[in-house]
Amino acid sequence: MKILVTGGAGFIGCNFVHYMLEKHPEDEIVNLDLLTYAGNLESLADVADAKNYHFVKGDIADMEFIDSLFSKEHFDVVVNFAAETHVDRSITDPGVFVRTNVMGTQALLDASRKYGVVRYHQVSTDEVYGDLPLERKDLFFTEETPLHTSSPYSASKAGSDLLVLSYFRTFGLPVTISRCSNNYGAYQFPEKMIPLMFTRAFNDETLPVYGTGENVRDWLHVKDHCAAIDLILRKGREGEVYNIGGHNEKTNLEVIHLILKELNKPESLIRFVEDRKGHDLRYAIDPAKIERELGWKPEYTFETGIRQTIAWYMEHRDWWQHILSGDYQNYFKKMYKI
Ligand code: NAD
Ligand code: TYD
Repeated sequence: MKILVTGGAGFIGCNFVHYMLEKHPEDEIVNLDLLTYAGNLESLADVADAKNYHFVKGDIADMEFIDSLFSKEHFDVVVNFAAETHVDRSITDPGVFVRTNVMGTQALLDASRKYGVVRYHQVSTDEVYGDLPLERKDLFFTEETPLHTSSPYSASKAGSDLLVLSYFRTFGLPVTISRCSNNYGAYQFPEKMIPLMFTRAFNDETLPVYGTGENVRDWLHVKDHCAAIDLILRKGREGEVYNIGGHNEKTNLEVIHLILKELNKPESLIRFVEDRKGHDLRYAIDPAKIERELGWKPEYTFETGIRQTIAWYMEHRDWWQHILSGDYQNYFKKMYKI
């Protein structure tokens, strides 16, 4: 199979490229990425010369470019990871989220239809369901939960999901969608909570906790997410949505305390700062459908996965220090008043 992976230089995309090259050496991967602030080819340096892999720089929302790429490459499968992904950035600049996440998806759908791909897979998020109350531990997101978004990020992801489903119903395009909970693991950009707290604690800097720190996220190791997408590509039913999650709910403070403990740093680094606007309270996935239909189960427990992830960040300081030394400092100063 020839697979187009978009956003393959980002966190989950680069883990997916690594996963697929190892698991399916018979497949060919083309990685299309615009290399925004979040894209980093250093994450793929070890596979850059692989025979069955190549990188193309480009914008998924550039329709002409996408059309000519598809006409040249004849992809069998498209997996769309490319997106603007940080909720805080979507609050300060929503426009680019609509452009990339909605219009970019449309350009890929049109080309997939025109050039006859056998599967278009949209990588989506549980954030399209909005949030659950903190006190109702019995409630979970199923695939039937209504879309009810909170941030411009999640609204743009919900918009693209609806477009994907419309191309199935209207044009018969063979699509699937996965909606995963929060991922953690190697190569995550240090604006997201876990690597942000790790890198700052490592440098003895204060840790900005939004609101009370009691918001709950449902954490899944990135490799379990990659395995689930691979399974959906091969066995998932066309036109279907699959939720992905491992029943791993933690409050933000629980995760931050664990990071501090692993690094042997004091809790006095914690600073409670102004809450995020529209901050979702709790995410929790019911993964019964993917478990039942496709036999997927996560391999990592949070306890093992988070320790391995912390060890990875310890061993790969060059990777994140490189990022911290660039534009990131300006971003942090603009976003946080600490
Ligand atoms: P990321 O921000 O780390 O990476 C996004 C990648 O997309 C970057 O390499 C960036 O350069 C590229 N990109 C951005 N705009 C582009 C454009 N116009 N054209 C081509 N490439 C472009 O994101 P991530 O955390 O790896 O998330 C990947 C996907 O998974 C997203 O669609 C996101 O919504 C979804 N998702 C993420 C999580 C999570 O916890 N990170 C959870 C569930 C779903
Ligand atoms: P984040 O990694 O941005 O993922 P998402 O908002 O998509 O779930 O944030 C995870 C949680 O951590 C979320 O509840 C917001 C919180 N958070 C902080 O408390 N401080 C921070 O500096 C950041 C980036 C996030």
